[in-house]
Amino acid sequence: MDFSNAQPGLSLGFNTHASPPSPITFETKFRGSLSSNTSVPFQLLEQNEEKIRVENGDHQEEEEEEEEEETEEDEKFSLLGHRLRLNMKRQREGSLPFSGNPPAKCIVVESCMEDRRKAVRAWGNESLKVADPEIHEIMEKEKQRQFKGIELIASENYVCKAVMEALGSHLTNKYSEGMPGARYYTGNQHIDQIELLCCQRALAAFDLDSERWGVNVQPYSCTSANFAVFTGLLQPKDRIMGLDSPSGGHLSHGYYTPSGKKVSAASIFFESLPYKVNPQTGYIDYDKLEEKALDFRPKILICGGSSYPREWDYARFRQVADKCGAVLMCDMAHISGLVAAKECASPFDYCDVVTSTTHKSLRGPRGGIIFYRKGTKSRKQGFPTHGDSNGHYDLEEKINFAVFPSLQGGPHNNHIAALAIAFKQVATPEYKAYMQQVKRNAQALASALLRRKCRLVTGGTDNHLLLWDLTAFGLTGKNFEKVCEMCQITLNICAIFGDTGAISHGGVRIGTPAMTSRGCLEADFETIADFLYRAAHITGLVQRDYGKQLKDFVKGLQNNKDILELRNRVEMFASQFAMPGFDS
Ligand SMILES: Cc1ncc(COP(=O)(O)O)c(C=O)c1O
Repeated sequence: MDFSNAQPGLSLGFNTHASPPSPITFETKFRGSLSSNTSVPFQLLEQNEEKIRVENGDHQEEEEEEEEEETEEDEKFSLLGHRLRLNMKRQREGSLPFSGNPPAKCIVVESCMEDRRKAVRAWGNESLKVADPEIHEIMEKEKQRQFKGIELIASENYVCKAVMEALGSHLTNKYSEGMPGARYYTGNQHIDQIELLCCQRALAAFDLDSERWGVNVQPYSCTSANFAVFTGLLQPKDRIMGLDSPSGGHLSHGYYTPSGKKVSAASIFFESLPYKVNPQTGYIDYDKLEEKALDFRPKILICGGSSYPREWDYARFRQVADKCGAVLMCDMAHISGLVAAKECASPFDYCDVVTSTTHKSLRGPRGGIIFYRKGTKSRKQGFPTHGDSNGHYDLEEKINFAVFPSLQGGPHNNHIAALAIAFKQVATPEYKAYMQQVKRNAQALASALLRRKCRLVTGGTDNHLLLWDLTAFGLTGKNFEKVCEMCQITLNICAIFGDTGAISHGGVRIGTPAMTSRGCLEADFETIADFLYRAAHITGLVQRDYGKQLKDFVKGLQNNKDILELRNRVEMFASQFAMPGFDS
């Protein structure tokens, strides 16, 4: 409230929320030339809008008659956020309260304040369906799409109900810029507790000693987590090296196109040179990586990617990083669930910094996370800026400062609470069983496709995803992806190296975490392999009749009986599996 423009000595007695509506009574007492019990008639007006009646005891009638002769004097001030005008009616000379010693007057002002309060609050409790039927309807359609379809995008998953509840909670109301115990705003005692618990659980989920590892759970996404690491540890134009995007790396590791266009902020603000997979085998070519790294001398060497179906040789990465004096960073976005469940090698054994998304195999809310080493350095590190003179890591402050205030504002507390819930679940035997099933399902799907003479990059998978090379069938990844989409199967294209080393989008990436979350087992993935094979067959027929170019190809998809028939089968199959969070 701002009473800065109000009359000095004005005392306002107004009703609380629970009180009956207007009229509001004002008793005003003037000092100085006025006696202590002098009252003045006032009108409280909302500018140009409200007409408020003044009851002024004995003089009311007389005042009404003489209204035209009165002069009005306005005082402006604001109350409860509303700009108001205090309208004081002066009585004629002689009858003015200032000139004599009139009796005290009680002023009752009728107002619509309570109505306004109600109006503001009215929509605060409306359900989504009532408040915004349009968005509600679209959301319902999306729910149906998620339920009736087969989700094979390797980076997607279904969160559980508890995570969803936290995401849609009152925690979104709170600002808490800073770190637990050191916030910009007050009122963060509970938020601090939540964030500290989340950090504690994050370290526990990956079996990390809090003396040796720290964690920042505030990044809004993994792209921003990665950029925060670069911002904290590097100077602009310093060098980074990650897996090339067409080889399965992620844009946020510094991608630029063959024509040199810098695509991500990582490549705009830092110099990046990628390493690649061997085009013949599909495995990372570690010898070439070492050769390149020793020439390029990156300050950060990045392992981890988006479309790599095999184990990462972290020991080899460490050797290379040490040889060129680089910080070794792993972006384990895709495999963090497998790492937590100890279903693959752990990057924490070798890396200095580990980032991740929290919503892929990990099955938490959508966001990013950064782990960094702290305490005494356990091994010689060539990069002198990341240890102090006593041989301690100095990553913590730099990374935390980069997240906030350098790159982000207030953390999303609803997300952090949801992440804490996910990390609690990650520590359970049920989660371990889930991740084992994810891998078994990937193996089952790979075997089923290989039995059907499909070609997989690297010949199979060690983790949750596989890359299907469709060039062997003469199909483009884009056409196959489109047919699958029309049949309610979602997956995405990936690059395939040709015999000449040229790259085409001749493949698709297929992941098992999402459908495993819905309860699919190995036999179900046999069925899914059948659907995929059938979709490939349909793609081949349409390509034959309409051509490979997408704009021609799509003409053959409208009212295509094969597609309608496969779509029905897919929907019937998928609808057997409840969607987590809506399983009732
Ligand atoms: C390896 C890797 N890093 C980073 C990201 C980006 O994550 P986000 O969408 O949270 O920015 C992805 C997303 O696909 C990824 O696969």
